[in-house]
Amino acid sequence: MGKHINILSVIMKVGGENLASKELLDLLNDAIARELQVSIQYMWQHVQWSGVKGFAVQEELKKIAITEMKHAEAIAERLFYLGGIPTTKPTEIFVGKTLKEMIERDVKDEENAIKLYKEIIEKALKEKDQTTAFIFEGILKDEEEHHDFFTTLLEEI
Ligand SMILES: [Fe+2]
Ligand SMILES: [Fe+2]
Repeated sequence: MGKHINILSVIMKVGGENLASKELLDLLNDAIARELQVSIQYMWQHVQWSGVKGFAVQEELKKIAITEMKHAEAIAERLFYLGGIPTTKPTEIFVGKTLKEMIERDVKDEENAIKLYKEIIEKALKEKDQTTAFIFEGILKDEEEHHDFFTTLLEEI
């Protein structure tokens, strides 16, 4: 019995420690804060759109907002598994008044996400954490699509 407890505590120790560096955990929380931010940002932009062009993009904004929420959840699950606690605080949200103002900001936020997620993939691979890298490769692909959508849209506003 005593032996079992010892083995269990060793496994728990291994499970609770050294799975990821503090830097990687902080980067994952940074990613969560940004996902929460854009999820709310796009949702409120979806609600506050204006003009004919706004009408044409509102459904897409709603779809992207939901995707960002799913990203936040996926990253939070990974962070929690690695021993971190997911943040509940989004980074600063910017809704904007005109559609142009909204989309200009969204392009920047997607650019920042792409930059951050490339950094996370690189860091995860350096720590031999292929799973985190794999998760972020999937998310990165979505962010590149969002970036493409927003930049194309901006050309027409
Ligand atoms: Fe995202
Ligand atoms: Fe995105």
